[in-house]
Amino acid sequence: MASQTESTPRGRFITLEGGEGAGKTTLARTLASRLAGRGLPVLRTREPGGAPGAELLRGLMLQGPVAWDPVAEALLMFAARREHLAKTILPALEAGIWVICDRFADSTLAYQCHGHGLPESVFQGLMGVALGEFRPDATLVLDLPPEQGMARALKRGAPDRFERLGAAFHARVHAAFRVIAEADPARCELLDATRPPAPLAEAAMAALVSRLAELPA
Ligand code: TYD
Repeated sequence: MASQTESTPRGRFITLEGGEGAGKTTLARTLASRLAGRGLPVLRTREPGGAPGAELLRGLMLQGPVAWDPVAEALLMFAARREHLAKTILPALEAGIWVICDRFADSTLAYQCHGHGLPESVFQGLMGVALGEFRPDATLVLDLPPEQGMARALKRGAPDRFERLGAAFHARVHAAFRVIAEADPARCELLDATRPPAPLAEAAMAALVSRLAELPA
């Protein structure tokens, strides 16, 4: 018997990346409705999290009392990511659903490696174990000076993480995302996120249309 998935084209995996307060969540919402408006089934998800076990790990990493060792934190991030991939992302893609994910492995490279000093070889090793060859089909990197991101995030009441990590950390993360985008232009588009939401969303859609052949202009 032919299963439904045999006739359904595989969904596409789109990730949004960037520092704190860059506007990923707003953009994810807009993109989800734009894609749905073109008749595509869409799932919006996030990391760390996006599956029950991964959400438990998110609580440990973001709200728990522990200041994690960088390798331990990276192991937890990739444990959560693996769970997210296996339980949420792959089943959705196989069912033909387009998945829009707020943060993915590029965040571990930016935050744990460039921010906290985790060796990139450890990141690459963990990525191989957790993801194999799986990568996003397209990644939108929101580029916003960290002081502007901080001002936006403080408005929505998230001062603790900024106070804990400091301006120098966020400057390293910001620079890292630019390097990541420039290193893989076929997958990544660096978007000027100082723009208001509407022109940012237009630029994001154009970046997706140019990368994903199934998406009509
Ligand atoms: P969240 O509240 O979702 O922040 P944001 O809205 O900025 O995405 O918290 C996610 C936090 O986790 C954020 O500070 C970045 C951090 N993070 C990492 O350090 N490494 C990772 O691999 C991921 C996915 C997130």
